[in-house]
Amino acid sequence: MRLTKVLLVLYALDSTGTQAVLTKTGSTCVLTPLSTDNARAARKRDFEAEVTAPRKRIGTTVLQERDLNPEEVWVDDPYSETKKGLWKPGTLGRYPRPEPSPGSSPPFESPLLERRSESRGAVPVILDSEVDNDDLGDFPSVELEIRQTKVLDDTPQLLEAFKQCGKDGIVILSPGNYSIRQVMNTTSLSNCSIEMHSATLVWSVDNISYWRSRCFSVTYAGRCTAWLLGGRDVSLRGFGTTLFDGNGQTWIDLAKGQANLDGRPISLTVWRGTNIFIDGITWRMAQFWHTFVAYSQNVTMTNLDMSTWTNSQYKSVNTDGTNTWNSKDVRIANWTVKCGDDCISVKGNSTNIHVSNVTCYESGAMVVGSIGSNSRQPDYVENVVFENVNLNHSSNAAWIKTYPGTGYVRNITFRNIRFSDVNQPIYVTSCIYSYQNCDSSRIPITNVRWENITGTSRYNVAVGIHCSGGAPCDGFHFENIDIKPKAGGNAKVLCSNIKNQASSGLQCTGPCPGSHPQQLSGNV
Ligand SMILES: *[C@@H]1O[C@H](CO)[C@@H](O)[C@H](O)[C@H]1NC(C)=O
Ligand SMILES: *[C@@H]1O[C@H](CO)[C@@H](O)[C@H](O)[C@H]1NC(C)=O
Ligand SMILES: *[C@@H]1O[C@H](CO)[C@@H](O)[C@H](O)[C@H]1NC(C)=O
Ligand SMILES: *[C@@H]1O[C@H](CO)[C@@H](O)[C@H](O)[C@H]1NC(C)=O
Ligand SMILES: *[C@@H]1O[C@H](CO)[C@@H](O)[C@H](O)[C@H]1NC(C)=O
Ligand SMILES: *[C@@H]1O[C@H](CO)[C@@H](O)[C@H](O)[C@H]1NC(C)=O
Ligand SMILES: *[C@@H]1O[C@H](CO)[C@@H](O)[C@H](O)[C@H]1NC(C)=O
Ligand SMILES: *[C@@H]1O[C@H](CO)[C@@H](O)[C@H](O)[C@H]1NC(C)=O
Ligand SMILES: *[C@@H]1O[C@H](CO)[C@@H](O)[C@H](O)[C@H]1NC(C)=O
Ligand SMILES: *[C@@H]1O[C@H](CO)[C@@H](O)[C@H](O)[C@H]1NC(C)=O
Ligand SMILES: *[C@@H]1O[C@H](CO)[C@@H](O)[C@H](O)[C@H]1NC(C)=O
Repeated sequence: MRLTKVLLVLYALDSTGTQAVLTKTGSTCVLTPLSTDNARAARKRDFEAEVTAPRKRIGTTVLQERDLNPEEVWVDDPYSETKKGLWKPGTLGRYPRPEPSPGSSPPFESPLLERRSESRGAVPVILDSEVDNDDLGDFPSVELEIRQTKVLDDTPQLLEAFKQCGKDGIVILSPGNYSIRQVMNTTSLSNCSIEMHSATLVWSVDNISYWRSRCFSVTYAGRCTAWLLGGRDVSLRGFGTTLFDGNGQTWIDLAKGQANLDGRPISLTVWRGTNIFIDGITWRMAQFWHTFVAYSQNVTMTNLDMSTWTNSQYKSVNTDGTNTWNSKDVRIANWTVKCGDDCISVKGNSTNIHVSNVTCYESGAMVVGSIGSNSRQPDYVENVVFENVNLNHSSNAAWIKTYPGTGYVRNITFRNIRFSDVNQPIYVTSCIYSYQNCDSSRIPITNVRWENITGTSRYNVAVGIHCSGGAPCDGFHFENIDIKPKAGGNAKVLCSNIKNQASSGLQCTGPCPGSHPQQLSGNV
């Protein structure tokens, strides 16, 4: 059988630029950054080694009956207007987001290239013959486009790789630095393996207005993202050697402690994805939430390491590890997260979420919520397991937060959670943040188990639970709860409106008013 090998060199710069070269063989696209002379020299070797290496692939599966309808148009955008009463004015406004147009990234002048173009000297171009000299034989070699540009931006090549190899193909990023200066919409992938080998992707921050205006809406709470990843049967592997650097400090400083700065992008959003596998990626200084899973089914995210922590006077709020929303069958395992907000957060319409072996430093740890912020729209959360979790200096450990809205939370398990110095380990509220109308919430929280929850609380409260008087909690079960104040003594267990409390295994020491806060600032 004669294999037709087509080698494409789509964009090229000289060896001192950062712009990557894209080569394509069959349905495999290989990107090689030209960030060093070595990279250029290694390009051919990488190319050959990587396309021939055996690789594990995820299977292609037929649409299941229980699939969410990934194509369904989302009609109601409940969060787009500033809501009266629940949110502070200005925090949720609609931000104009014109459609992104590929190729219009912010210009970035490289002094080196500037000099070259001034002198009109020829920029050396990587020719296909240099790439794969020996291997080409009599196969046709096609040079599609060679473009010289002053923009040090690897996004066009990356997007081109997804276009060329995103269906029944493989996209390989070879070692080196990639500069990401544009939003990416890669939602129409199918049967695509993305492999990043020792790649460092750096999201630019020298043109904040670009990101704020082009960031893709994710509808939830008016938030948006720098990268939409979706489709069917997609794997994204970083092999523990790949780094996503969001330059988050710039965003943290820009937000000045505000929770929601419009146009501040979520680093990576799994959007309308089915059978998605993400593994072995390290994040440092994400722009906003590290990840978000929305309108997706069967998403596995394993061996991820995230850290976004501020070095300035401003807090790193909303740097959550992940949030799931309108999604089902999500598996999270082997994560290490340090962040200034919730570590793993399960939001409205999440079903069958399994979280295990997660270590969180700081952060809000394992949380269901917030849900129910829109009283016109119900939020449902069910069948969630958080297990084998280690926490250090978090705000809470195993908790549930709802607004006084509608929907339900049921069948939740928090198991084997060990922690030190957590502000208020077990916390449940029906009126998060406002601490008003707590008893009018119509979100029953039922069948929740806390098992083997062990550690030290920062103050003298181990548990604070205020359920809605209008929809009391039921089916609560507590087993092997061992929480001691770090300063010694006995911890208080405050609770209100728990049905069948006597048989729950929890011995309450006093009532918990609706106004009881999520975080304490001292003993109560
Ligand atoms: C920022 O990006 C926008 C949109 O691409 C562009 O119009 C503008 O010129 C850029 N500004 C700078 C300073 O790069
Ligand atoms: C998935 O893509 C690979 C190429 O990466 C191809 O070999 C395989 O046949 C595709 N699977 C299906 C079911 O099309
Ligand atoms: C990638 O960038 C980092 C810092 O930005 C630098 O230290 C490193 O040498 C670069 N790597 C390559 C292969 O150019
Ligand atoms: C992303 O791309 C898909 C198809 O390629 C398109 O249907 C969708 O509208 C795009 N999304 C955004 C937010 O531009
Ligand atoms: C779920 O996705 C994984 C890849 O993470 C895949 O191997 C598996 O077959 C999928 N399960 C179903 C039921 O489609
Ligand atoms: C978690 O990490 C351990 C140790 O590296 C590994 O053996 C295990 O397979 C990982 N689990 C998953 C789900 O990746
Ligand atoms: C848990 O995950 C960490 C990485 O966060 C890994 O080093 C460790 O081996 C995993 N443990 C198990 C039991 O899988
Ligand atoms: C959650 O799902 C319910 C039932 O499908 C739907 O009515 C509601 O709009 C969804 N809520 C959100 C916030 O997506
Ligand atoms: C509760 O959730 C667990 C874990 O997702 C699941 O195995 C179990 O079947 C659920 N129970 C009910 C009654 O739905
Ligand atoms: C918590 O983290 C701090 C700082 O990283 C460290 O000094 C301390 O030993 C950790 N405590 C536990 C119990 O792991
Ligand atoms: C309790 O949880 C810890 C981890 O947090 C685990 O090491 C221990 O084995 C668990 N105990 C039981 C009885 O399951």
